[in-house]
Amino acid sequence: MKVIVTDEISEKGLELLQKDPRVQLDVRLGLRKAELHQLIGDYDAIITRSGTQVDAELLSHAKKLKMVARAGVGIDNVDVPAASERGIIVVNAPFGNTNSAAEHTMAVLLALCRNVPTANDSLKGGQWQRAPFTGHELKQKTMGIIGLGKVGGRVALRSRAFEMDVVVYDPYISEKRASDFGTRLVSLDQLVGTADVISVHTPLNGETLGLIKAEHFAGMKDGVLIVNCARGGIINEAAMLDALESGKVAGAAFDVWSEEPPASDILKQLIAHPRMVVTPHLGANTFEAQTNVAVDVSREILNMLDDKPVENAVNIARFDPDLMAQMRPFMELAAVLGDFISQLAPENPGKVSFNYTGKLAAHDCMPITVAGLAALLNRCTDQEVNMVNANLVAERRGLVVEQSRSTESQFFSNLITLNLETPQGKRTIAGTLFEGTPKIVKMRDFDTDFTPEEHMLVLTYEDRPGLIGRIGTILGEAEVNIGAMNLGRRGKGGEAMVVLSIDSPVDEETLARLSEAVGARFVKAVYLKP
Ligand code: NAD
Ligand code: MLT
Repeated sequence: MKVIVTDEISEKGLELLQKDPRVQLDVRLGLRKAELHQLIGDYDAIITRSGTQVDAELLSHAKKLKMVARAGVGIDNVDVPAASERGIIVVNAPFGNTNSAAEHTMAVLLALCRNVPTANDSLKGGQWQRAPFTGHELKQKTMGIIGLGKVGGRVALRSRAFEMDVVVYDPYISEKRASDFGTRLVSLDQLVGTADVISVHTPLNGETLGLIKAEHFAGMKDGVLIVNCARGGIINEAAMLDALESGKVAGAAFDVWSEEPPASDILKQLIAHPRMVVTPHLGANTFEAQTNVAVDVSREILNMLDDKPVENAVNIARFDPDLMAQMRPFMELAAVLGDFISQLAPENPGKVSFNYTGKLAAHDCMPITVAGLAALLNRCTDQEVNMVNANLVAERRGLVVEQSRSTESQFFSNLITLNLETPQGKRTIAGTLFEGTPKIVKMRDFDTDFTPEEHMLVLTYEDRPGLIGRIGTILGEAEVNIGAMNLGRRGKGGEAMVVLSIDSPVDEETLARLSEAVGARFVKAVYLKP
């Protein structure tokens, strides 16, 4: 597997990949856009921080790419829908730098309150001045936190340690979460009107871009302090500059910018403003955090390589890891059923239903459905269909996907049945696990009992004496060895279905001979990925 690293990532954290002989790791920093477009087609995975725009254009060149690994939390530099459409897994490292980001927030806030950067410059410049650097205490002030997530929560705890009263605006959390952090939930307007310090900690998205704008500044207390260590653009930067210049805001501390590196006039003026404390996106730049996030994404790449569930995929529905471990054999069974039926059923299915009966049905079966659906769809399209894009591909093709569960089961302790509705009628396949191995126990309305193998042959015909012998002879002449045979029939002399496991593929000519020899209604060679 080839992995390209396009932003600075901790070497210590990449050791896991470096040590693995299956991985070729190429660190290519400072690539121009066009260069990366040219290179990306060779790679199976890309590791980035916020410096690389993984946009739809880059992804269109990424023919082999299976994973975008973002060594950090923010995924605003990754076009996740475009990746999902291509079946590319996007993972991030949502926990590794939380503490660093929270500590950096406090660092810039304290630096702002106590004029540390300007006092530092003054003393180093040979002056001994004290009065101009008189600052403010945090104690007994009101901290307003916007977004009480992982970083916001830690900032709340640290603010309380400074004896601040903490109010929170976050429409997506419970009152309990707010009170667990010793904070109070308020509306955005209330927060803006009462806080002495406002610190934003939301993700950047369509809803939060420009969340704090001119009208909010107008409603703030005079002399308020503003902190942004989340993402540039959550606070409108032009409005921020105006509020500093008008004196409404006493000072601000920003680590992040709508443009990185900042180049626009507004950003240059903002950065140069004497009452701004600024850092170049350093929130996560601690040795600890950088090792953590690099280890986290390296693990995810190895999980993918080892066919294990990835833990922090942002574009695969997240399931409990214990549930996934239990479900894995059933996911494999569903994939076999989906792959098998997709090769036998008529074209243009309009609906597929996954029915689960038995003990299995007591659990959330959605991962099994998605695994089965991906296998079912994989042969209908040139694009790779997997757990990431299976639902999307089904939706695009107008395929309705249904799921039903019942813990009551007649014959099997667990049974998965797929029903495919096509313009030519309904097709059914059902399977179970026997000592952990998939068994197919129903095809159409025939009871069957066989273990799916790599190469198989399915024939239906009017049952008459001597036909099995003829099949054996023709396959023997074609030097195809039969490993196992399963015969299902509706009754003496009725329609019969023969399923053969064979050791090698059958060519078209042999298929035609077989068809003629038994007067087959249906004959099909099936190939299942080993
Ligand atoms: P998180 O997902 O854990 O928390 C985000 C919180 O914002 C959630 O509680 C969510 O409910 C809330 N939220 C979402 N939309 C909101 C809205 N419209 N109004 C109010 N609240 C809203 O994320 P996190 O890990 O805490 O990260 C927070 C931010 O910090 C992100 O933007 C992330 O990219 C950034 N970050 C920056 C650095 C850095 O280097 N400066 C490091 C780490 C994280
Ligand atoms: C993040 O989103 O994790 C941070 O902004 C840090 C980074 O980009 O490295």
